Amino acid sequence: MENLEEQIIQANSLDALERVRIELFGKKGALAVEFAKLKDVPGAEKKAFAEGLNTTKTHLQKVYDECYESLKKAEIERLLKAEAIDVSLYNNLNAKGALHPVMSTMDKIIDYFVALNFSIEDGPKVEDDFHNFEALNLPKNHPARDMQDTFFFHDGAVLRTHTSPVQIRTMLQQQPPIRMIAPGAVFRKDYDITHTPMFHQVEGLVVDAKDEVSFANLKSMMADFLHYMFGEVEVRFRPSFFPFTEPSAEVDISCIFCEGKGCRVCSHTGWLEVLGCGIVDPNVFKAVKYKNVSGYAFGLGVERFAMLLHKIPDLRMLFEGDTRLLEQFR
Ligand code: PHE
Repeated sequence: MENLEEQIIQANSLDALERVRIELFGKKGALAVEFAKLKDVPGAEKKAFAEGLNTTKTHLQKVYDECYESLKKAEIERLLKAEAIDVSLYNNLNAKGALHPVMSTMDKIIDYFVALNFSIEDGPKVEDDFHNFEALNLPKNHPARDMQDTFFFHDGAVLRTHTSPVQIRTMLQQQPPIRMIAPGAVFRKDYDITHTPMFHQVEGLVVDAKDEVSFANLKSMMADFLHYMFGEVEVRFRPSFFPFTEPSAEVDISCIFCEGKGCRVCSHTGWLEVLGCGIVDPNVFKAVKYKNVSGYAFGLGVERFAMLLHKIPDLRMLFEGDTRLLEQFR
């Protein structure tokens, strides 16, 4: 029996202890063998024999329980140690994320207009013909539809080619006055160093009572906005054409690379085109059943702004996910 106790004490792991437990206390274990001898013990001695065995069993059980507790405790401590995290440990996997330059540029643009109390509106990327074209004074077969290389679905739906359909959706849902911007992704079949098939625009629309909104308002706001974005640049308005605005203008800033002297980026003109705008065409108000109102609208490409702000030479780089580019924006 001494020997049995020794076996328990010498078990140095929970597994070893479990094996000892089966050998001692199991159905065919050492104790069971002892108890089996009881039937051969002469009557008079049976009682003392049984008592002796029971005492031994109780004692062994107690020794076993103590060993189990202490091994269990040691095991938990071992696990805690093994799984502990040293938060002070140096590692080189601490690469931090950062906003993508297109998103941070978008945020900077949005901040300007939010401060002027513009609301932010949203619309679907899969549009119908009415919102993307028709209501914007682009009737079917109008040649100006070719200005935008459209992705068509079989059922006539399109991937929106600009954020202007959000103007229509907002005017159909709200009554004037309206001061809104609509940032978001747009899609065109285009791919070269200044075009990708998906890019982002920020649209703007201001509508108020007739004669409340003028081209002069638009002009001063765009000039102020471009100074906010690009600092000390010259701003110029060029007459242009959009079906949904009349008159329309394209806005240029003096080239921020050569300061207007002429370089490769500005095609030696000294100017960079940065946005389109104009006075909302009466046909657009007719499509949304607005009467006696006036308004202006503008639209710009966010990637183009990001390229100019960060001097990124090829627009496609913004979508290649190359960490060597993205790391520079942490
Ligand atoms: N929707 C035009 C485009 O994508 C931009 C624009 C918006 C022009 C609003 C004028 C007014 O080219």
